[in-house]
Amino acid sequence: MCGIVGYTGKSSALTPVLEGLRRLEYRGYDSAGIAIPVGIGQPLWVEKRAGKLGNLEQTLDGTSPQSHSGIGHTRWATHGGPTDRNAHPHLDNEGKLALIHNGIIENYVELRSELEAKGHHFVSETDTESVVHLLSDARKAHDGDLAAAMRDVCARLRGSFTLLAIHSDDPDRIVGARRNSPLVVGVGDGENFLASDVAAFITHTKRALELGQDEVVDITPTSIVITNLAGDVLPPHEYEISWDASAAERGGFSHFMLKEIYEQPKAIADTLIGRINGFDAHLTSGIDLAHIKKIVIIAAGTAFHAGLVGKYAIEQWSGLAVEVELASEYRYREPIVDRTTLIIPISQSGETMDTLMAMRYAKSHGAQIFSVCNTNGSTIPRESDAVLYTIAGPEIAVASTKAFITQLIAMYLIGLHLGQFTGVITAEFVAQMHDELAELPDKVEQVLETVEPLRTLTRQFKDSSSMLFLGRHVGFPTALEGALKLKELAYMHAEGFAGGELKHGPIALIDIGTPVVAVMPNVDTLLAEKMASNVQEVKARGAVVIAISNGEVPAANHVIRIPSTHDLLTPVLAVVPLQVIAYEMAVARGNDVDQPRNLAKSVTVE
Ligand code: G6P
Repeated sequence: MCGIVGYTGKSSALTPVLEGLRRLEYRGYDSAGIAIPVGIGQPLWVEKRAGKLGNLEQTLDGTSPQSHSGIGHTRWATHGGPTDRNAHPHLDNEGKLALIHNGIIENYVELRSELEAKGHHFVSETDTESVVHLLSDARKAHDGDLAAAMRDVCARLRGSFTLLAIHSDDPDRIVGARRNSPLVVGVGDGENFLASDVAAFITHTKRALELGQDEVVDITPTSIVITNLAGDVLPPHEYEISWDASAAERGGFSHFMLKEIYEQPKAIADTLIGRINGFDAHLTSGIDLAHIKKIVIIAAGTAFHAGLVGKYAIEQWSGLAVEVELASEYRYREPIVDRTTLIIPISQSGETMDTLMAMRYAKSHGAQIFSVCNTNGSTIPRESDAVLYTIAGPEIAVASTKAFITQLIAMYLIGLHLGQFTGVITAEFVAQMHDELAELPDKVEQVLETVEPLRTLTRQFKDSSSMLFLGRHVGFPTALEGALKLKELAYMHAEGFAGGELKHGPIALIDIGTPVVAVMPNVDTLLAEKMASNVQEVKARGAVVIAISNGEVPAANHVIRIPSTHDLLTPVLAVVPLQVIAYEMAVARGNDVDQPRNLAKSVTVE
């Protein structure tokens, strides 16, 4: 959902701004633009282009201006198509004030008519342009004080936004604001940064400041002032960025997604550190577990699938009832929620608007919030009573892999912790499961060492029109995740079904040559037997079956072997070949793996 970068300092701004945009391109990539002051009181130098950042970069050369401040934007279009004209930054009519925006301004139509009536001339179809004109008037009313103008403007806006503005009269200053959309400050030495995500400035500084809801930040190379909308100066909340800068680089892999698939053993190991074998006692500190009668997991996309797996584990181990809800549906059906409900939002980014809004709804009805998140300082953990951070490191590819696998680990940790609390499982069982968890990094490594034949096999199906995924029990959400990955990356029709549901309709989709992936991890179980029948059923109708299993599956055409583990933990191993299938299919079909069409990694609109 739009990447935003602002830089003011000692370097030529073009370099850190473009570098930041490159790192934020995962957030949106249908157009990009930058604005740079080239002289006090002069019109700003602005360059913007539809398409990926590369299109913009091609227009820049040695003659591009040198300046010590600038703002840049990479867009995921909402209002107004992805054209040069609709690309950000947007300018006031003098061309001296530039504004970039992430989010949606709900009252922009009303603002636009008001501003047009006052004589402002609009050139784009965006909601953002109304804000730059409004800001221009407010700045004049405040004798050039851009921060005061921003506070006034924010008070008039409805919707969600991160805004950054720069004016050529005061070229070293950048003013930002946020509401329901991310913005962080990077604190440098003689230089400061503003960005949607720390990845934008991680190579320059590890010091970051959080910004709260409805806060305005005013930066110059040597100062940072944060205020609320009333103008009261607020104390800064600084934190250290633990991510290694190299984690945001591709490091020899052809795509970030591939690199992130291979980082999964480490991500699991890091997420387990200090949380197993006797170190899990404080996992839920901050939560009053004694009164919890029901757990509701809320999430979107891939995180929702982690939640579905979580339901099996948490219910079985803790005896507590667990519901899993799509965040976008949750609050609109007036759910039953009160202080006896524990809400577990799962979110890689911590900024997904659907998840955030669902969580706020539950909180306002008294629920306690225990979030699972991968991004320190983001909104969801900040508004939670307690947080379990997944330690996947920065995930750059739009399609989630290592974040998903660590969300599964978080589900198991929570299930085991709650199970001990409710007394449903013994300490011995927990210790055994902790040992099983500790073995997962090696087992995922083993899967990764044996997926090569799967890559060749996948290419055989590159022209298929559809691919189906089957699974039972935790294999079902695994199948859903496999299908989602394939849709996202290969733009191929894909669906995940519960094996038992096949006969109730989906089997009609099977035709000669239809590829079917059967998730049937542990062969000697009742579930695997049932899945074997499903494999026979689809094969009898012409399907080509790829089984993901720890043993032989005679009925399948191909078997991808994975190591054995406890039934509930099998998604961690079974999902890896599914990720590889989606990756390979995308490459085979010539798609952009890291930035699939129409998607954005962090979706900060409802
Ligand atoms: C977007 C991404 C998905 C992701 C979902 C939830 O739709 O494209 O990959 O699973 O948001 O994101 P979150 O950051 O809340 O986990």
